[in-house]
Amino acid sequence: MLKDKVLTIKNRALEEIKKASTNNALFSLRVKCLGRKSEFNYILKGIKDLSPEEKKNIGQLANEIKKEIENAFFEKEKIIKQKMFDPEKEKIDVTIPGKKISRGHLHILSKVQYEIENIFTSMGFEIADGPEAETEHYNFDVLNIPKNHPARDMQDTFWLKQTIGKDRITMRTSTSAVQVRYMEKHKPPLRTIVPGRCFRREATDSTHDHTFFQFEALMVDENINVGNLKYIAQEFFSKFFKKDVKMRFRPSYFPFTEPSFEFDISCLVCDRKGCSACRGGGWLELGGAGMVNQNVFVAAGYSRNKYQGFAWGLGLERLAMMKYKIDDVRLFHSGDLRFISQF
Ligand code: DAH
Repeated sequence: MLKDKVLTIKNRALEEIKKASTNNALFSLRVKCLGRKSEFNYILKGIKDLSPEEKKNIGQLANEIKKEIENAFFEKEKIIKQKMFDPEKEKIDVTIPGKKISRGHLHILSKVQYEIENIFTSMGFEIADGPEAETEHYNFDVLNIPKNHPARDMQDTFWLKQTIGKDRITMRTSTSAVQVRYMEKHKPPLRTIVPGRCFRREATDSTHDHTFFQFEALMVDENINVGNLKYIAQEFFSKFFKKDVKMRFRPSYFPFTEPSFEFDISCLVCDRKGCSACRGGGWLELGGAGMVNQNVFVAAGYSRNKYQGFAWGLGLERLAMMKYKIDDVRLFHSGDLRFISQF
């Protein structure tokens, strides 16, 4: 009998729905009981061929049973959903600290550069800039370093292939290259510093790198003398290190200054005991200084002997090494985050 068949289907379906315990199981069960290829659907489709009497009875019954099965599915779904919702898991602890967003920050060398700029602007110095790829003219010729002069050997140079006319191009070997560029545009009295990147073909070690920063200082007027140089330098060091730093000038030679000095400060990493930052000597050579050679003024278009001025070029990394007690210059450009993120 068709009626019995429909009732058996119903009982089996309700039984199986009762047993199902997951959403997936319930889904496949629905396909099996009510889907297009189910026995039940097959019966529903056949109703249209029955006699009018049977059609009415079976049709009504089948519809009721369908509703009943669907209802059982609906109820079971609710139960499964409730089980999946575990209040323990859903608990939110609003006191847990949020995820940290790690922020970038300035590189130690930029920080040191800005510190230096602040100190010098407070002393009335202007900040100037120049190109890193520089002409032979500004990097050497105007600084009183003629071609074939042995002084060129002091700076192992990276030459580029390009030229501007006959002028060869080099990665600038020092910030002194900006001196004449600046003086061509400004007339004394003038005070300027030039922080910037420089390049040399160095055999690298703990105090030398092929790429490094310097800052040039240049002060020109009618009566500038070595006393001004010493005063400004001492003033700068005590402001930069926030303590009195011992400073030492040694006679030296640079073609663009006369007289010339080598510029040391006492090693603040080891307090003159000797360490790798000062390579055992207790003093750290920061750079060179001197009174600007008149030939440089003439190259800039000034009259000979009208002005006097001092200039220096100091290594920025070396200042940073002293201030932050860093014992290897190569760390600055290593890109090593363990180093960089300390500052
Ligand atoms: N340009 C020199 C160098 O890099 C440093 C220097 C020495 C700069 C004496 C100066 C100076 O301005 O007067 O080795």
